[in-house]
Amino acid sequence: CLTPDLLHQYDLDGKIAVIVDILRATSCMVSGLANGVKEIVPVSTLEECLALQKIGYLAAAEREGAKANGFDMGNSPFEYMEEKVKGQKVAVTTTNGTLALNKSLAAEQILVGAFLNIAALTEYLKTQTEDVIIVCAGWKGKFNLEDTLFAGALCYRLRDQFEFACDAPLAAEAMYLQAQNDIFGYMKNSSHAKRLAKLNVIKDIEFCSQESIYDVIPVLVGESLFPLEK
Ligand code: MLT
Repeated sequence: CLTPDLLHQYDLDGKIAVIVDILRATSCMVSGLANGVKEIVPVSTLEECLALQKIGYLAAAEREGAKANGFDMGNSPFEYMEEKVKGQKVAVTTTNGTLALNKSLAAEQILVGAFLNIAALTEYLKTQTEDVIIVCAGWKGKFNLEDTLFAGALCYRLRDQFEFACDAPLAAEAMYLQAQNDIFGYMKNSSHAKRLAKLNVIKDIEFCSQESIYDVIPVLVGESLFPLEK
């Protein structure tokens, strides 16, 4: 349950990294691959995203919660379900989520987690023997509520299979147990949810708070995310 700026303290070698950015990057990645997007390339800069647009990728970019000017898509899961993205390759850059993923490349396996695919992710991780690091994207290097809430939900589901390496999972799990019957209601209090509410995207928050509506687990192969072959 780390934020990306703490990753340098950990050896990712041989470990599975679960990247989470509930509002909304990893919720979008899960939604896109579950709804027919062919592959998703997470990049860290707007320039990298535009370069891929020039060679036929749909370019999705968010900064400060809003769609960046000159791009095909912003960062709403509803955009990743539209007819126009089916069968397409999407290049995406967001304020925190894609950065968190690209800071975790030393891991043996990089998976994308969200409430939307938490059951499938849980069942897959139960079959693995490697250590798991949950990388919470946070907001500009700082803790955020929704990503740690997800980490707690995942830790709660895996508590019989894994030993917790520190107390962060215990705190995250306690947060989830308090919120589990109303994830949306709990998440609405987060700073980013309030930021998004000002941009009139409350419906994204409600959508991203749903548990286990998709079975797809995005996995990084080379520089692209594809559905994990289970
Ligand atoms: C992020 O990267 O922090 C989020 O994806 C931002 C957003 O989608 O609003």
